[in-house]
Amino acid sequence: MKDTIFLIGFMGAGKSTIAKCLKRIYEREIVEMDQMIEEQEQMSIPKIFEEKGEEYFRGLETSLLMELKGKQNLVVSCGGGTPLRTCNVEIMHKSGRVIFLTASPETVYERVKNSHNRPLLEKNKNVSFIETLMKERKERYEAAADYLVSTDGRSAEEISREIMEKMEMSRPQEQRFKQYGNQDMLLTEFE
Ligand code: S3P
Repeated sequence: MKDTIFLIGFMGAGKSTIAKCLKRIYEREIVEMDQMIEEQEQMSIPKIFEEKGEEYFRGLETSLLMELKGKQNLVVSCGGGTPLRTCNVEIMHKSGRVIFLTASPETVYERVKNSHNRPLLEKNKNVSFIETLMKERKERYEAAADYLVSTDGRSAEEISREIMEKMEMSRPQEQRFKQYGNQDMLLTEFE
């Protein structure tokens, strides 16, 4: 069963917040890619970008996804640039479903304006730059995504519920049936 949930989307789209919420409500194990890379490299993301460059960082993302391939039932909060590499998207599709969390440039700005751990935004923290980069990436995000889920003006709980419903509906019908303990009525209601 390909059941890992990969959360993709622009910086500030809410990937980490939703991952934590899925952990809390659905008891899913979560992997925060940026944090794991920082631990493995013993270096912050801005330092990795500064000292080793973006390409090196992108390589670390691919290696980490390869490492996660053997695990099941995870929620992986990807970096904003993770789905830009086709090989990363292929790895994700082999292990689970890809959920694209969307947010408007204004929402993203509000969420990232006080943080300093995103080297790509550090000198460009304004709605216009965010909008431009978002537009550049939109097609890649959409191509990678199994599902799109909007985060603007919604609670983490509501978003998490929508994600789990989408995951459930993407299971083969026999498995959905099994999970609901052979209850015809319930299955019919659910369908
Ligand atoms: C990046 C997003 C960041 C981090 C790095 C590069 C990007 O992650 O991986 O700064 O290229 O969009 P978040 O989306 O978690 O901020």
